[in-house]
Amino acid sequence: MQSNAVITAIGTYVPERILTNSDLEKLVDTNDEWIVQRTGIKERHIASDEQFTSDLCFAAVQNMIDRYEVSVADVDYIIVATSTPDSVFPSVASQVQAHFGIPSTGSTDIQAACAGFAAAIQLANGLLLSGVHRKILVIGAETLSKITDYTDRTTCILFGDGAGAFLMETSEGIGDITAAYSKTDGTRGHLLYRSSLASAISGHPIQTNGLIVQNGREVYRWAVSHVAEGVQQLLENSGLLPEQIDWFIPHSANMRIIESLCERTGFAMEQTLSSIQLYGNTSAASIPLAIDEAVRAGRVSPGQLLLLYGFGGGLTQAGVILRWSLPANRQ
Ligand code: COA
Repeated sequence: MQSNAVITAIGTYVPERILTNSDLEKLVDTNDEWIVQRTGIKERHIASDEQFTSDLCFAAVQNMIDRYEVSVADVDYIIVATSTPDSVFPSVASQVQAHFGIPSTGSTDIQAACAGFAAAIQLANGLLLSGVHRKILVIGAETLSKITDYTDRTTCILFGDGAGAFLMETSEGIGDITAAYSKTDGTRGHLLYRSSLASAISGHPIQTNGLIVQNGREVYRWAVSHVAEGVQQLLENSGLLPEQIDWFIPHSANMRIIESLCERTGFAMEQTLSSIQLYGNTSAASIPLAIDEAVRAGRVSPGQLLLLYGFGGGLTQAGVILRWSLPANRQ
């Protein structure tokens, strides 16, 4: 696959407020042991009432600027993957433009649920390769706490808030992205949806409260079978075997799903990065959060091959294989 795109900076942010499993015990009939055993989640970060997805994006991009001493003044495109935009329009991406005063840039939000960040990387790679753009901010950000039903114990234990950003630029040489794959099964869209959008697509009655609704058991089944096939297809496209990949970064939906994916695809858990334990399922933010934690810890280092694989509402899947070229920071 062709690529002239290099990742030149990474930044992340999570809100300060922490919601632990014992906090959830006060809201619904659940307990820490059940949540940890079924999901691997210990706690999640939750935005304040005054904090929106755009605020998390600003903080993640600022973190990137501070650590890598990069400028966003000449960014010429912004993509924000999110299922929780502050509003449908203006887009979150256009708010990022305004916040940083970027003088000449296109912008768009994309919705591919938990596959959003990998899908955004694929889009950015294509835009850079076409020559239309040269420097793109790619952000995955969510405030899922604002659309979580805290009376439903089967969903409220799962979700958290966060944001992660990559800066992607045109290079003269070979780019970092070496393979990509995506797949959608819209016939199963009703298994996981935001209720205000449910109406005609799913054939289910219209609901307008805008909350996450899911059939957890069916989503689980789909993830461990169809997503595993998708990961295998991406590997086949790349001509690589799991042992030739340094780090597997599946979307952090649930630790049990990650373990099953590893079993079915041939990855070892030791090769796998996740952000599930301390952040929960942060949808489009989960993959950059997992990568950045490992970058900061010196586990992910320049020259290594990473397989990123997002999956979720839609039902969508998107994955990329890329060669990492960044240190923890430039300072
Ligand atoms: N605390 C305690 N008990 C709970 C509970 C909670 N938070 N949530 C459900 N239960 C109960 C159920 O009511 C049920 O009780 P019952 O047998 O008396 O009826 C029992 O636990 C088992 O429920 P079940 O739905 O079969 O649990 P599960 O093992 O499938 O786990 C999920 C539920 C949601 C954790 C699991 O289905 C899952 O992870 N699905 C995938 C969800 C996901 O990742 N979505 C995002 C994809 S991007």
